[in-house]
Amino acid sequence: MSDFEVIIYEKKDNKGYITLNRPKALNAYNIKMRDELFEALNAVNDDPEVAVVILKAAGEKAFCAGADLSEFLTAPPPVAARQVRFERDVWGLFLQIKKPIIAALHGYVLGSGIEMAMCCDIRVASDDAKFGVPEMGLGIIPAAGGSQTIPRLVRRGYALEMLLSGRWITAAEAKKIKMVNRVVPRAELLPAVEKIADVIRNHDRTALTCAKQAVVEGLDLPLSQGLELEARLANLLRY
Ligand code: COA
Repeated sequence: MSDFEVIIYEKKDNKGYITLNRPKALNAYNIKMRDELFEALNAVNDDPEVAVVILKAAGEKAFCAGADLSEFLTAPPPVAARQVRFERDVWGLFLQIKKPIIAALHGYVLGSGIEMAMCCDIRVASDDAKFGVPEMGLGIIPAAGGSQTIPRLVRRGYALEMLLSGRWITAAEAKKIKMVNRVVPRAELLPAVEKIADVIRNHDRTALTCAKQAVVEGLDLPLSQGLELEARLANLLRY
């Protein structure tokens, strides 16, 4: 059930599956992928049949090898680029999705790939996954939230080492610094993610939304306001 070209969107048992689908280009993130992700994310957000979202990627070698480098040379001028971004803020949308998103990460998880993974709620990696932020080597910095989302998830020193040195880390190291929740053998990646999704999808939908909102919004608030937010959401669920 997908009319897309570079992603696949499917639904099964209240799970929405978004698959990055440019395996020959290691699922590099291009403008087409941005546009299609924007549509698919809006679809899952609005679709009452979808309780939980799985983000995964096609092909053996990569979840995503970063921004499409061939488009770097053909990118629109900065003013036009900013306008496009304003119209289609896929990263902002990613972070606003009310439903839980689980990332299934394998192979190369680089640049925009890592940034996409950071926008998800739960990250499971296969043991062949390699994580890196290569932007510094290209004389640029992450522009899909990575400079903000990575240090919010892992400790500042690890985040800065990855950003400043561009050093790649293995799945085991990513687990150690809590960049991913768990690491499984490659063949078990999707089953492991689906197992988590199947538990989640059987819970009350409103409670799921409230729990995610409490955590995501609460993390940006001082504790007292976070507790108020929790109380408000808990109250909402009583009625
Ligand atoms: N943008 C566009 N195409 C990309 C790409 C990217 N970011 N990463 C890989 N590809 C393409 C390659 O051009 C190649 O295409 P081709 O078969 O038509 O020549 C194909 O994907 C396979 O890549 P290849 O480099 O042959 O695979 P590899 O296993 O030897 O190396 C990487 C894998 C990830 C180490 C290497 O592709 C790489 O360094 N990619 C760029 C990573 C990067 O800097 N991303 C941008 C961050 S901002």
